[in-house]
Amino acid sequence: MNQRPVDPQAQPTDSLDAALRIKRLDELYGQDKVRNNLEILIEAARGRGETLDHILLYGPPGLGKTTIAHIVANEMGVNLKVTAGPAIERAGDLAAILTNLRRGDILFIDEIHRLGRAVEEILYPAMEDFALDIVIGKGPSARNIRLKLPRFTVIGATTRLALLTAPLRARFGVILRFDFYDVPALVRIIRRACELTQTPYTEEGIRVIAQRARGTPRVALRLFRRVRDYAQVRAEGVITQPVAEDALAMLEIDSLGLDSLDRTVLEAIITKFGGGPVGLETLAASVSEEADTIMDVVEPYLLQLGFLERTPRGRVATRRAYQHLNIPYPSQEPPPAQPSLF
Ligand SMILES: Nc1ncnc2c1ncn2[C@@H]1O[C@H](COP(=O)(O)OP(=O)(O)O)[C@@H](O)[C@H]1O
Ligand SMILES: [Mg+2]
Repeated sequence: MNQRPVDPQAQPTDSLDAALRIKRLDELYGQDKVRNNLEILIEAARGRGETLDHILLYGPPGLGKTTIAHIVANEMGVNLKVTAGPAIERAGDLAAILTNLRRGDILFIDEIHRLGRAVEEILYPAMEDFALDIVIGKGPSARNIRLKLPRFTVIGATTRLALLTAPLRARFGVILRFDFYDVPALVRIIRRACELTQTPYTEEGIRVIAQRARGTPRVALRLFRRVRDYAQVRAEGVITQPVAEDALAMLEIDSLGLDSLDRTVLEAIITKFGGGPVGLETLAASVSEEADTIMDVVEPYLLQLGFLERTPRGRVATRRAYQHLNIPYPSQEPPPAQPSLF
């Protein structure tokens, strides 16, 4: 997939990104439920001198799951080891990670729904009993030994809670859902970015960016970068409303933050499949995208806008989607009579 400005998954890793990273819970705007829950967990654990319970974070990409894991480690004053489901290929890889942890350390497992079965089975006793079961030797002389691990904390992150196995899910003491951010929270995030980078702005200018950021801080910061570049090259450096509007129009991002892929998907449902229902795989194939991309990146925001519905028979475009795309909504005429087979 080529780089979409509104892709919530692609991550920059330059110095600006590092400068904007948040390090404390009180710097985190929005996501109040998550923040309040974590504040209590952290304070309680610290007060008792205990390690944190295992925490599962879930929700669409770009909402701050990885950021939160770093913040929690920072606030607890412990080390954070970062890995991801697909990166741990064999049970031995996980065993190596676990035996290197110290008391209180946090193991962050991104995309935890993609852990392999054998790896997951090592994780169960590790999370529950802080024990590592290993088999030594082969054949009749093989024996099981159980190694004691220090008490540590797993923070798991996933965009697909439903794909997590029940036993793994059951081992988390705390499960926190991330929601899309509202415009005021995104305005604060962009304002902070302007201030940290000494970029002049008007409130109306950053509001335009916030409104098109799809409820997602990662998208907000990405659009901020593009608008800032545009302002610098074409408009004396100030992010004003017309500057932000022009810059985003150039990126083909519309008034609701939809880009060409979003519109292509909606248009496909409407023009190729009569408004739906159409199955995810069929839809993905018709726009030459991967089903996972449609499901993780395109659909959550369209669902949130009320442009799309997921029904048991497939995806359906709503009246609001037709309106946004300026396509007349089909009138409710009775369907043409079916030709009789006999
Ligand atoms: N509440 C927030 N306030 C400010 N910046 C945020 C916030 N949440 C996320 N970000 C920024 O958005 C980007 C994406 O966050 P990240 O934690 O990587 O999301 P996720 O892991 O859920 O995909 C990062 O650059 C991060 O600094
Ligand atoms: Mg992440």
